[in-house]
Amino acid sequence: MFFDLAKKFMFSRDAEWSHNFALNNLRRFANTPLNIMWKQKVQDKPVEILGLTFPNPVGLAAGLDKNGECIDAFGQMGFGFVEIGTITPVGQPGNPKPRIFRIPEQNAIINRMGFNNHGVDNLIENVKNANYKGILGINIGKNKDTPNEEGHLDYVKCMQKVYEHADYITVNISSPNTPGLRDLQFGDSLTLLLSSVKEQQTQLAKQFNKYVPVLVKIAPDMDEVAIEQVVECIVREGMDGVIATNTTLSRDAVKGLKHAEEAGGLSGDPVTQMSTDVIRKIRQFNKDIPIIGVGGINDAATAKEKLEAGANLVQIYTNFIYQGPKLIKDIVDGT
Ligand code: FNR
Repeated sequence: MFFDLAKKFMFSRDAEWSHNFALNNLRRFANTPLNIMWKQKVQDKPVEILGLTFPNPVGLAAGLDKNGECIDAFGQMGFGFVEIGTITPVGQPGNPKPRIFRIPEQNAIINRMGFNNHGVDNLIENVKNANYKGILGINIGKNKDTPNEEGHLDYVKCMQKVYEHADYITVNISSPNTPGLRDLQFGDSLTLLLSSVKEQQTQLAKQFNKYVPVLVKIAPDMDEVAIEQVVECIVREGMDGVIATNTTLSRDAVKGLKHAEEAGGLSGDPVTQMSTDVIRKIRQFNKDIPIIGVGGINDAATAKEKLEAGANLVQIYTNFIYQGPKLIKDIVDGT
């Protein structure tokens, strides 16, 4: 009811304005009685994976709360885990506006935000100030101005700062909006990145006497050979899991619709099948690796498809914007 009213108001305005409006209010009212607007009880359906016990399998995907400003509010909605970021070592403005576009006919969004964020130090302050006691993932990336050959150093810098505060860390190499970032998914660049990350994880595990799993987030726009190679490298370099998938560059499902030709990553219903196919292929290549499935989940059935394809957990973003917190409960109840 409350969400329907809020959605009506926000969908009559610019997408990024609405995004900021929603986050500002979630942050302001999270620890006040007004959190009744979104707080809900979601049943326990524990999942044990990555050495952690997730209270339910439905998480918030990265990119909605890039700076970790609303962790408490998302926890109150009943998410089984919350992933914040993508964060970069230094704050950066991202791409020029406008840079988010709704395509409601397909429950879809195109975004080319470009890792706009306040930098890792600010995110850590926000994490320290949160009351949330649930599972927190922190998604890390590289600054736009850092050349790809030095990209691995940005990930290492972020790891050093976030390690002690995260339950898991996501290495994001699949955003289409930082030029060249997706090149890090292949060949020697991937090996260099993941071996540097592994070395850092091993050192930090000793330093903090705590093992924080590292997952790699991949794109849906890969053929079978590329998926096999990326999974092989992820396993060889000792990564702990995969998040599949990020947004797509494909426009097949939205051809002819308003905003379809905007540059950026497409998410929501058009990516449902693509990401499920990627999950299925990863599971064919490796029967053990933990997988978080994300991309176009819009109800319990589409979440179930991802779990049946081999995902251990799922995340939502775009359809959470279209449907609100009720979607979390629907999925937990129906899977
Ligand atoms: C994203 N996504 C994303 N992913 C990521 O790893 N880091 C990020 O900063 C962002 N930023 C971002 C912004 C916006 C506006 C959207 C819509 C998406 C990708 C997101 O986490 C998810 O992988 C995809 O959107 C696919 O899932 P949905 O949205 O179809 O449920």
